Amino acid sequence: MSSIQRSLTIFYCFLLPFSVVYALHKRAAPSRSHSDPHDYLRHQLQHCHVTSTSAPTSTNPTTSIPISPRLMIEDATKGLIKRFWSVDQQTKRSMDRILSLYEEEKVDAASFHGVDGYGHGDIGREKLDVIIAKLMGAEKAAVRLQFFSGTHAIASALFGALRPGDNMLCISGHPYDTLEEVIGQRDGHQTGSRVGSLLDWGIGYGEIELLEGEEARKENGDRVAFDLKSIDIAIEKDPQLKLIHIQRSCGYKWRPSIPVMEIGRLCDHIRRKFKEKGRDIIIFVDNCYGELVEEIEPCHVGADICAGSLIKNLGGTLAPSG
Ligand SMILES: Cc1ncc(COP(=O)(O)O)c(C=O)c1O
Repeated sequence: MSSIQRSLTIFYCFLLPFSVVYALHKRAAPSRSHSDPHDYLRHQLQHCHVTSTSAPTSTNPTTSIPISPRLMIEDATKGLIKRFWSVDQQTKRSMDRILSLYEEEKVDAASFHGVDGYGHGDIGREKLDVIIAKLMGAEKAAVRLQFFSGTHAIASALFGALRPGDNMLCISGHPYDTLEEVIGQRDGHQTGSRVGSLLDWGIGYGEIELLEGEEARKENGDRVAFDLKSIDIAIEKDPQLKLIHIQRSCGYKWRPSIPVMEIGRLCDHIRRKFKEKGRDIIIFVDNCYGELVEEIEPCHVGADICAGSLIKNLGGTLAPSG
């Protein structure tokens, strides 16, 4: 099976549930377009069959009127429906984008021919790389199931970009835990030592916390922001600082994901303050679980390298690796 066959299988498996949901949705309400969230809400509530007959479990605190479980569920649904509606719209827009890129790159029967031996001339694989590069706003992409996981993709990018004597700075706080072994903050699970880590190769590491709550709101009006002042000080102090690492999604933390616009604000700042004055700094984004969540990706707003994973959003959790 060629790379593109494998990857398209993943994409189709990913798209299929949405198509089925969409088809079912259309059957249930053939005359409605649901371009308006209120219309969508009315439709959802009409089809909300809560059959519980159990006694009311709560009372409305202002009117003291008992509330039945059915009403409580309807209320909760009302509160969430706009959110679900906008996620559904986002999913459809992402599907449109991906399918038009498949058209643009003329993914045809020839793209599905298998290759063997050294795997040279796999046109399907070449087209897939171009499609993902365009989707991610990057110049080039390498989409390979041989990258076993997100951690593997991130580690490959870091080992590719950093050299002994360089330092990296993580500006979204402590990174995802599997990266601790890559960076050399704890012993490798299999090696029982730090051999082979970035630290072992003489690459140093530092981190700066994200701003949250009131501090973030003052900075950019959002719930989360980069601490530009501390970042500037760290870069000015360390001429060996070569790479800035950003983890877009929260991982195991309870913080919000970093909006792409905030990554753009950081990229603009670093470009104006350092890159344009000759400082060579790479802005790297761990995009795991970030792909397709917004209309644009970190490379659209100035990030230099982005690594993500087919086991997550892009493979719809169906990809065996990548
Ligand atoms: C933000 C983030 N980075 C990195 C990873 C590591 O990816 P993997 O578990 O595929 O190695 C994850 C995994 O969930 C993640 O959420």
